[in-house]
Amino acid sequence: MHDMNSMYPEDKLELYHLLQEQLKALLDDEPNVIPNLSNASALLNMALEDINWVGFYLMHNNELLLGPFQGKPACIHIPIGKGVCGTAVTQKKTQLVPDVHAFPGHIACDSASRSEIVVPICVNGCIVGVLDIDSPIIDRFDSVDQTGLEKFVQILEDGCEWKLK
Ligand code: SME
Repeated sequence: MHDMNSMYPEDKLELYHLLQEQLKALLDDEPNVIPNLSNASALLNMALEDINWVGFYLMHNNELLLGPFQGKPACIHIPIGKGVCGTAVTQKKTQLVPDVHAFPGHIACDSASRSEIVVPICVNGCIVGVLDIDSPIIDRFDSVDQTGLEKFVQILEDGCEWKLK
């Protein structure tokens, strides 16, 4: 059910449009990745309903390393090709997982998680990290979430100074 106290629109298309505009305002000429990803995860955590973890993993020493997030403490290292996050890196495309228990190799950081979406962050053809969102509800994310979050990530790709290795 929609939280009546939420200041965000109920319509998902409108919601993601607003979040994209708010993210652009938050980036505000600041190119540093850490504060920008911190604010981006805080923004998504405020606005998205029925999620229990939202944050970033960043490519470091040829693996994914935990970055800014909101939620319970999470696993620090994820090898490329492992879990939903590592699969998003090898496939270079968004992973929409309606039921994490049905995803072979899913890494359970929070046992409450039942569905998940992972969007790769790609700069000049290189994956520099991923956005990962978990929900305690099965089938929480759909194609509207996917498109909205891919545009959200594109703003981060364009608005941050990524160190390419
Ligand atoms: N479930 C992820 C691991 C990261 S946590 O969800 C925060 C995966 O399978 O890659």
